Amino acid sequence: GKGVTEGGAILVIDAGTTSNRAMVFALDGTVQAIAQRPLTQHYPRPGRVEHDAEEIWQGVLACARQAVTQAGGVDRIAAIGIANQRETVVAWDRASGKPLTRAIVWQDRRTASACEALREAGHESAVQAATGLILDPYFSATKMGWLLDNVPEVQAAGEAGRLALGTVESWLLYKFTGGAHRSDASNASRTSLMGLAASGWDEGLCDLFGVPRTALPEICDCAGQIGTALPDWLGASIPVTGMAGDQQAATVGQACLARGETKATYGTGAFVLANMGSDVPSSAHRLLATVLWQLGGERAYALEGSVFVAGSLVQWLRDNLGLIDAAAETEDLARSVPDSGGVVIVPALSGLGAPHWRADARAAITGCTFATTRAHLARAALEAMAMQTRDLAEAFAADGARWTALRIDGGMSANDWMAQDLADVLALPVERPAFIETTALGAGMLAALGAGLFSSLEEAALAMGGKRETFSPAMPAEVRAARVGDWARALASL
Ligand code: G3P
Repeated sequence: GKGVTEGGAILVIDAGTTSNRAMVFALDGTVQAIAQRPLTQHYPRPGRVEHDAEEIWQGVLACARQAVTQAGGVDRIAAIGIANQRETVVAWDRASGKPLTRAIVWQDRRTASACEALREAGHESAVQAATGLILDPYFSATKMGWLLDNVPEVQAAGEAGRLALGTVESWLLYKFTGGAHRSDASNASRTSLMGLAASGWDEGLCDLFGVPRTALPEICDCAGQIGTALPDWLGASIPVTGMAGDQQAATVGQACLARGETKATYGTGAFVLANMGSDVPSSAHRLLATVLWQLGGERAYALEGSVFVAGSLVQWLRDNLGLIDAAAETEDLARSVPDSGGVVIVPALSGLGAPHWRADARAAITGCTFATTRAHLARAALEAMAMQTRDLAEAFAADGARWTALRIDGGMSANDWMAQDLADVLALPVERPAFIETTALGAGMLAALGAGLFSSLEEAALAMGGKRETFSPAMPAEVRAARVGDWARALASL
């Protein structure tokens, strides 16, 4: 096989909410292989969302094997990078390496009342000051507390000293390495258990949320020698040299490497991150402060607006309502009508995230008449993306991080109508890279850096990044104002 210096490729794992994927990148950014498996969503009751952690691992492994074979064999792989759905909590037995119960997914709302109780007890401002996060079921800590309070197997493993708790990257690293329990700082910053400026877990926060520190992973950099995958899995020992939450990875993949540069990823949800440099940011407008990356022990931070529903709204229209057969149909349907006919969809299917944070809110479709068709509904669904993003734009601006352009990516960003509507509603240039899988690209850049194949993220971005196209705003101001008014009324009705 080829050596690391001539053509050493990077195997990237992207363990997302609705699918697991593996890709192989060459160091010039070209994709040499891609494999994907859907992930089963379990909805045991309203507001609950679960994954089978064993299915995640088996899906990741199957995709990795397929991608490595497609790319010409394991000798071509210099390093592994991991990006993952964040906040989702896995509890497993350190001795057997088996999950103790289903993973609680980031979208799950079961700890809404626990969060409310903590808020009423006056803990929110201290939690936000320390972690950059607000009190919401989204984050890992109350999910971990729930497992310890409600699942006997988790309690028993805790008492026996065999409990491991972690987010998805740490679960995958544990499986790949056969026992290393590590989390990178970008993922750790989503738990509510780590101070933004602190290197380790916060004892006071662990006590507040009822999480034993001994069950948690060690916190490490996003690039470097993080662990070594056992030869059992891919046929050779391969170092894991990059690890980051998927949204942070996408920010890197979009080359938002300088302060102020901002990206929005439209996947299952929509996540906007603005690079805020090395000073710990704090939001006065219900945005999150989060670790963007940690390299050589030094952190860069981001302000984040997390919107829970984006592509999942289109999936819901397809799978639950049967309104469309394929997600891509929404583009032609949206173009087939001049406007949404007064229909507004507020997609609070799992509550509302930033900047509203209403765990209990439920979705609404307003403004329907006998003239309403599925084309109007499809259009309103796409319009909701720009409206949700606009709410974030206002919060970022109020926090002193006004966007001058927005770089978009993720599966839904392939929709040209939506990209143009975003530019129109934001009144900003919207830039879309030719290669929209920026999450995987960013994890690949981090892994290449961690393997010593580049000396900085800037160098990795130059070598691996690609071209962008720009959508320029063209909407008359009065049309925009009407949309904003309709959206505000629909939101207020929830
Ligand atoms: O915070 C949740 C986020 O990491 C999920 O990303 O791409 O799986 O929707 P995605």
